Amino acid sequence: MNSKFKDIRITDNFYQSSSFFPMPLTLIGTLNENGSLTSYGAYSLIFPYYIAGKGFYAMVLECRNTSNTARGLLRHGKCTINFLPYSKKNFSQHVDCGFPGDTPEEKMKNFRFTPVDGLSQEEHPNEKYPKILDEALQVFECSWVKELDNAQDDPVLEDYDGYKYHNFNGITSKFGAHFILKIDHILIKEKYYNSIINGATRSNYCPLPTNWGYRDSKFFWCSDFKKPDPIAIPNREVDISSVRYAAERLNTDVQFTDAALKMLVKVPRPFLKLVLKGCADWAIEHNVKVIDEKEMKEINDKRSKEKKEKK
Ligand SMILES: Cc1cc2nc3c(=O)[nH]c(=O)nc-3n(C[C@H](O)[C@H](O)[C@H](O)COP(=O)(O)O)c2cc1C
Repeated sequence: MNSKFKDIRITDNFYQSSSFFPMPLTLIGTLNENGSLTSYGAYSLIFPYYIAGKGFYAMVLECRNTSNTARGLLRHGKCTINFLPYSKKNFSQHVDCGFPGDTPEEKMKNFRFTPVDGLSQEEHPNEKYPKILDEALQVFECSWVKELDNAQDDPVLEDYDGYKYHNFNGITSKFGAHFILKIDHILIKEKYYNSIINGATRSNYCPLPTNWGYRDSKFFWCSDFKKPDPIAIPNREVDISSVRYAAERLNTDVQFTDAALKMLVKVPRPFLKLVLKGCADWAIEHNVKVIDEKEMKEINDKRSKEKKEKK
């Protein structure tokens, strides 16, 4: 093996005991037992899970199964994932919210941030939803998809030793739980909303910390967000003949002119069939036999309109 590397032992919590791993830093809000209070736990093992083609979008959370957060999700099925900007003070509040054993009431006594109602609460005034944090740059409001992996009956217990563990949702091991969380809303502050909708710049890129870790059983470390650098998409046009080849294999009577195919040379190969099929479906729907530049423009306009409406 290349002697520049050492082969480190892989142990429990390998993502920080055996390596450095970039992770988000979030405060997850869940309701206490009677639903009267939102308490916040610090969580990093929270990642996108269903990102397309599933009818809904979801995150996955890996979580200690006796935490307030796990209990809040088992009982009420709802949470808010709050992303805050980096500052030493903010990081220290995350570390405080990461101390195991405090009840929701104890945790919230000296809490520095400001819980406020989110959009889910506004939409369902007769139900109880965990609050979002006013200081967050963005918040995901989520609902636990408890039916996945048949986890809907998982109870809140003091100890899960000997429990029949699930594979990927609900109580998954003696100390662990996984929660697949449907994203109900993504709420984002205006500056970063504009960054997504109108274009990112070096100054409106959302400054979220990702480089943190617990080290030597002593310190929580986190580095500040630095200015981002933009790198342009590689200009890798495929040859028009490979676009034509893909178009001819489509199993449709719809024809594409060379000029139309030329407009697709920048589509990455894995998506080419899907894009061509979308064009052919559009043509059939509009009774078009041959797709030329004009039709491609119409299809593109329709696509960007749909994208804008979705946002
Ligand atoms: C920055 C940070 C990130 C953390 N990420 C996780 C995590 O992803 N999963 C987990 O189970 N515990 C994580 N912890 C530990 C939990 O925060 C800890 O178990 C805490 O008691 C949870 O709070 P809760 O009981 O209010 O849910 C993290 C702690 C810190 C400080």
